[in-house]
Amino acid sequence: MKKAIIKGLITYFIAGNECEVVSLDSIAKYKGIGSLFLKEVECVSKRKQCKSIKLITTNDNMRAFMFDQKRGYTLAMLYVNAVEKARKIKPEIPFAADNGIPIRDEILLVKDLTSSVFRFAREKPHGSNAATPLKC
Ligand SMILES: CC(C)(COP(=O)(O)OP(=O)(O)OC[C@H]1O[C@@H](n2cnc3c(N)ncnc32)[C@H](O)[C@@H]1OP(=O)(O)O)[C@@H](O)C(=O)NCCC(=O)NCCS
Repeated sequence: MKKAIIKGLITYFIAGNECEVVSLDSIAKYKGIGSLFLKEVECVSKRKQCKSIKLITTNDNMRAFMFDQKRGYTLAMLYVNAVEKARKIKPEIPFAADNGIPIRDEILLVKDLTSSVFRFAREKPHGSNAATPLKC
């Protein structure tokens, strides 16, 4: 029997016509896994008639902030000091990230799924900047 290897995990929920990505974690980074997972959830959301997908990241998470924006997510809201409230429920949230930035604020990013052009940067060859329709 072939051994299954877990490469990452994405969790999400759909409520009405909106999908929220709750978590996205890739174990083997820079191999296309995060992009693949996110794309799959976008396709599921589209099939379920969702109009948008949202996700939240924190102010320290530069990699996620860049990753999400390159995949068509735009800044929708900044929740200043929101992590302080989250820490009351989840005290294990560290005060600073490995990069030294204090973990403090939450950033809401949203992708509009009704747009006729979906930007999914790494669906196209490296270096190309042309928008590509989302192919599910
Ligand atoms: C953010 C995260 C999910 C990205 O996962 P990942 O598996 O590294 O994502 P990918 O490999 O698809 O993409 C990462 C980069 O590697 C590049 N890449 C993918 N395959 C590649 C390959 N074969 N060769 C070279 N580069 C490649 C991608 O183009 C991408 O670069 P870009 O963002 O400049 O376009 C991951 O860093 C992670 O788990 N972070 C910790 C948890 C977290 O922050 N989650 C997100 C909260 S919203």
